[in-house]
Amino acid sequence: MIRLDRCLVALGVGSRSQVQKLIRAGAVAAAGETLRDPAAQIAEGTPICVRGEPLDTRLARTVLLDKPAGLLTAARDRKQPTVMDLLPPAFGTLGCMPVGRLDKDTTGLLLLTTDGELAHRLLSPARHVDKTYLAEVDGPLTAREAGRMAEGLLLDGETEPTRPARLEILESRADFARAYLTIHEGRFHQVKRMFKAVGRMVTALRRVSFGPLRLEGDPRPGFWRDLTAEEERALRRAAGLEE
Ligand code: URA
Repeated sequence: MIRLDRCLVALGVGSRSQVQKLIRAGAVAAAGETLRDPAAQIAEGTPICVRGEPLDTRLARTVLLDKPAGLLTAARDRKQPTVMDLLPPAFGTLGCMPVGRLDKDTTGLLLLTTDGELAHRLLSPARHVDKTYLAEVDGPLTAREAGRMAEGLLLDGETEPTRPARLEILESRADFARAYLTIHEGRFHQVKRMFKAVGRMVTALRRVSFGPLRLEGDPRPGFWRDLTAEEERALRRAAGLEE
């Protein structure tokens, strides 16, 4: 059960005092009944209408976003636009947060969730899920670079080598190559630093998978959707929260 006014604040209807005013004015109906007491208790998921308009009352959300370049991966920032700007304002009040980070110029699959435990588990070093990136670099890639990435690389300023990573080369020329790189960790700028360690500079980077989740088809920058029930179960299994 949740207090009606608290529920409306969480759903982004307004501030505590604004929603209390609305409720007292008789503008809010829960399960078809007008409630005038801001402290009324309602069950989570109860259908609510404000001024006759139905609200999306889901308090728990996990969504997949195709992150465009140019946005910060952060819950908020004073100066720069963030990925949260792509979602309805209610996601902010619900406490939805990005799971991990993509660089400002990196595009692709970003997960955002209101479930703090799920996020924490997916990011914990003990449980890091596989992530696959499509990278474009400024020179050729060969079996030699793939071998070094499979063995593990010592990145600048670090003492622990990276865990074995899989490089699948799609195209390689003298001044350009394209490859999938699958890593099992989430170190700072890890993919760019791994390519740098083998003498290549990343010129474009897109994440195409995160654990059991995949971005299929052509890029759709800014597109987001809720996970399907099946995706949510697979993700919870990957996080060790479900059998
Ligand atoms: N590795 C990077 O270097 N950048 C990202 O955005 C993600 C992984």
